[in-house]
Amino acid sequence: MKNLTNEKIEKRIDDLLAKMSLEEKVGQLHSINYGGEFTDKIKNWLKKGGAGAMLLVDNALAGEAEAVRVSREKINEMRRFALENSPSKIPLLTCRDVIHGMHTTYPIPLAQASAFNPEMVRECYRATGEEAKAYGVDVSFAPMLDVSRDPRWGRCIEGPGEDPYVGEVMAKAIVDGFQDGDLSKDTSLGACAKHFVGYGASEGGRDYNRTEISEYTLRNVYLRAFRSAAESGIASAMSSFNEISGVPATANRHTMQEILKDEFGFEGFVIADWLAIYQLIRQGVAEDIAEAAALAKNAGLDMDMADDAFGENLVALVNGGKVSEDIINDAVRRVLRVKFALGYFDKDSCEQKIEYDMDAHRALARRMAGECMVLLKNENATLPLSKDTPVYVCGPYAFDKRIINGSWAADGDLSYSVSVADGMSAKSDKVCFSNDRRELSVQDEILRFAPRNGKQTVVVVLGESDKVTGENHSVESIEISAGQVDLVKRLKRMGNTVVGVVLAGRPLALTEAEPYLDAILWGWHSGCETGNAVADIIYGDVNPSGKLAMTLPATTGQIPLYYNVTMSGRTSDAYYGGRFVNGDDEKIYGYNNMYDDMSACPLYHFGYGLSYTTFEYGAPVVDTAELSLDQINSGKAFTVKVKVKNTGNREGKETVMCFIRDKVASMMRPIRELCAFEKVTLGTGEEREVEFTLGFNQLSFYNAENKRVVEPGKIEIYTGADCYAEGNVNVKVV
Ligand code: BGC
Repeated sequence: MKNLTNEKIEKRIDDLLAKMSLEEKVGQLHSINYGGEFTDKIKNWLKKGGAGAMLLVDNALAGEAEAVRVSREKINEMRRFALENSPSKIPLLTCRDVIHGMHTTYPIPLAQASAFNPEMVRECYRATGEEAKAYGVDVSFAPMLDVSRDPRWGRCIEGPGEDPYVGEVMAKAIVDGFQDGDLSKDTSLGACAKHFVGYGASEGGRDYNRTEISEYTLRNVYLRAFRSAAESGIASAMSSFNEISGVPATANRHTMQEILKDEFGFEGFVIADWLAIYQLIRQGVAEDIAEAAALAKNAGLDMDMADDAFGENLVALVNGGKVSEDIINDAVRRVLRVKFALGYFDKDSCEQKIEYDMDAHRALARRMAGECMVLLKNENATLPLSKDTPVYVCGPYAFDKRIINGSWAADGDLSYSVSVADGMSAKSDKVCFSNDRRELSVQDEILRFAPRNGKQTVVVVLGESDKVTGENHSVESIEISAGQVDLVKRLKRMGNTVVGVVLAGRPLALTEAEPYLDAILWGWHSGCETGNAVADIIYGDVNPSGKLAMTLPATTGQIPLYYNVTMSGRTSDAYYGGRFVNGDDEKIYGYNNMYDDMSACPLYHFGYGLSYTTFEYGAPVVDTAELSLDQINSGKAFTVKVKVKNTGNREGKETVMCFIRDKVASMMRPIRELCAFEKVTLGTGEEREVEFTLGFNQLSFYNAENKRVVEPGKIEIYTGADCYAEGNVNVKVV
């Protein structure tokens, strides 16, 4: 557990709290919006110490509007004003949505999760932290840690995908990147774990909608990444819009106070999501804003957002006996902790001068984009292409420079953004387009200029716009559009070798187009360097190594479809087509599909991803076949070793995955559960033994009494390249 605070800080907070009036305390729990103008309203709040944080929300509209650039000087002016005019001279905290890059845009978080390279994720968020801090941001509203099993939900692009363990790893990597182990460093900024909690379970993938989550699923799926963020010493968290089985998350004492703060030991503050206190009225649990504020405050919410709910109501609520001053004190302490941890009581927060190297950040963005793209298909080793091969580049997204940056890229420096067309032609002079007007993506012209002698290569850039991803964007169908399928079919019908590059934020169902594509590179919305990274892979300068962090269903109707399900008693709803079932079961039940009219198998499964080389796995070996429960509970772990060899003819990276299955337990456990992974680089013919250490953290789950336990019995361990990993060994817990 990494702490945000220490005894010295707590002592200084005691001293400060003792001097503050109730009005000033409440001020610390109030955040105000800055939309580009330092208005009298803002000044009035700051003068009386009535605001603890300022949201730089000129890029609101869920990150879609072009950001109004605020200068560092302007932000300093407000900071200085708050410091000099407020009664206790408490520094202001500035907050902004810095989701996957500031001026340099990196791949969307779901793509970064698919890199399975937490160290590189940390580096990207470190670099982002430098740019954001230089701009004047103290707290970024990231990481988004919502596990999502429904690709129709536009916000799945912002998170770690379907797997809770990947969520844990991403949480730590992003917190470490932003906070850099010590918030008081000039380039460190506070992270914010959002959306707490269960937002990803929105029914039908409809944004802002209801969620029905049992305590068992809440703890074993949705809360895990937040526990990891708390253990990494995260500065803040954000309550979510959804209800959790009838109780809105923003008024949920059980999740915010009892679990996050009391159980996980989270030391930072919880801020509401946009207008979320006000929304308690619409959600039907409060009559008016004062009642909503009391509900949220007593549930453990520390700061309001956008609705002035705390700023305007808490003083009266305390005076009227509806909220205790102890609760206020605890919340203020949490906000002050972050300000002390940032060092803002010891240095001039206005005087920080931060330099950074934009070229280095772009180089990192290119590496990360290359690391997270997933090669899904490569018939007859179509890829990589030789730079001497004539290539016709086309498709609706071939020339795009905006969409590739993804949703929530409002601060991105879009004057630097490399399209696939530009990335390809920078590497080879054999690249051609539909005509001189390179921006054209009209289908009949694409076809009119396409090669048709049967021996040519076409790279067709497909996908979806970022405008249908992100907040407040859900789709009813994830099928790739009919027009794109038609284009692919016709290009193939001309006899070409067709390479599909898919630029998308979420899993799209490619089933209709897939048979006509000789190779498929899943390129995501990979940030400003998308085009260069695609070209690096297509021409073989980078060997692809991304693996899917979210299942790609074959059709929309298969949703939800994720690998780590529990086993059904019957066969008719076997997720993944019953692929995880052993032979005996199959004989008895004759496993088949869950639908009469469609296969239950995804088009591409969790963890899937090809390389230009091949890897072979040995059988896993454990250093002990049996451990007692006492040993595990007192911290003893065992090791699983597995050999992996590069059997192809070029260097490559492979993510070695380790899954467990607790086959007989007091609760139904998933058929496979990722519990560790490691990405290794192997030269031609090189073999490496990868070692995983498994103990309480990896083997435990929350049982019916909400206790985190390991139970006696057999634990099956599977190692391999993806969720179909077959290397198997067992350990017995006695
Ligand atoms: C989103 C949050 C975001 C906040 C502030 C909300 O609408 O749900 O993710 O941090 O706005 O922009």
